[in-house]
Amino acid sequence: MKLKYTAPLRGELAVPGDKSISHRSVMFGALAQGRTEIRHFLTGADCLSTIACFRKMGIEISQNGSDVTVFGRGLHGLSAPAGVLDAGNSGTTVRLMSGILAGQDFPSVITGDDSICRRPMKRVLQPLTEMGAFITSQQGNGCAPLDIRPARLHGIHYPSPVASAQVKSCVLLAGLYADGRTSVTEPVVSRNHSELMLRYFGADVTSEGCTASIAPEPVLRGQKINVPGDISSAAYFIAAALLVPGSEVLLKNVGINPTRDGMLRVCREMGADITLLNEDHSGAEPCADFLVRSSSLHGTTIEGAIIPSLIDELPILAVLAAFADGTTVIRDAAELKVKESDRIAVMTENLARIGCDVEAREDGMVIRGGKALHGAVIDSHKDHRVAMSFAVAALACSGETEILDSDCVTISYPGFYDDLNMLCR
Ligand code: S3P
Repeated sequence: MKLKYTAPLRGELAVPGDKSISHRSVMFGALAQGRTEIRHFLTGADCLSTIACFRKMGIEISQNGSDVTVFGRGLHGLSAPAGVLDAGNSGTTVRLMSGILAGQDFPSVITGDDSICRRPMKRVLQPLTEMGAFITSQQGNGCAPLDIRPARLHGIHYPSPVASAQVKSCVLLAGLYADGRTSVTEPVVSRNHSELMLRYFGADVTSEGCTASIAPEPVLRGQKINVPGDISSAAYFIAAALLVPGSEVLLKNVGINPTRDGMLRVCREMGADITLLNEDHSGAEPCADFLVRSSSLHGTTIEGAIIPSLIDELPILAVLAAFADGTTVIRDAAELKVKESDRIAVMTENLARIGCDVEAREDGMVIRGGKALHGAVIDSHKDHRVAMSFAVAALACSGETEILDSDCVTISYPGFYDDLNMLCR
């Protein structure tokens, strides 16, 4: 895919549904009794992997565009899959499902693509083993494929060394099948969609500070879910509108859960003109429309407790920093190294290719911004968030930018390039 500046961004856009919430709506719907009706479901490849896994375990799921209906069979209604469960590129699918699978009375194997088979799974093997699960890494390297056999699970308290919603959710889901209450304490609170949605389905979930806890064997009941737009997808259009002079875009119905909205806070701190309109706090997940106007930005420091609330937005924030005046320091973000690619290495490599003064650090990056940057060939390393970040950078660079493996955006945003073109006309 080749991209270059054409025109300022103008107009309105409703970005696709939130990826984290879409995954959970299918998983929890499958474990609930009765029908769960999901609107604005994200039809990206990751969420389709979750649907395929549950279909393989006997759950009927109908899909009509972004309308999905899950015919749940209750906590003990899954059946043994014929063959291996394939999570594709989706870390959320492997990690959350391993918690569910650990509590089943049938054996299973879950795996995914090459990237998934390199990502660390010890972070879920450890707490699940403490709960009594029989779960092992087939290759003995702490990665997928994971072999799971039936076991009796015990409620535990797990102090997680990482702030990870995937780890927290995995443990809470295993806790549905345990013999007592299960709790997880994180160093910093990560996204809380599992806690909110499990409660909405009828589970006894409490959250206090950095600790979430769940009681076993609830009766979950099917629900209606309207998935808000994904702030992690909106992030690319926020950034594009900020960077391209003369832009003004309205992003409709985007999720603003405070455990996810760190990018908004950082952008405003960098000088961004973003106004929230029609804020709606009536549902389980708050949302709003974002009015974004091009702005001149300055560097900042991104560190500490805000990191989990913008972890997926750090690649596009790094692009914003490259065009902002002054230095931006990103630290406390070593988790970037174990995402779909090593996002510290891959962002540093590609930012340097467009002429940016950037330095990789063990837990982040130092970006000295404000220079004029030029188009280049970008290696996305098949990481959707890297590809989308440089598609945005391309609009603010001189000349043309070519993105290799650009179709990886289908992981989280199948219509991304069309939507970008539509706003740039
Ligand atoms: C996710 C949690 C985050 C995030 C990922 C989705 C989730 O990962 O990066 O894209 O849906 O729970 P970690 O929990 O590993 O930080």
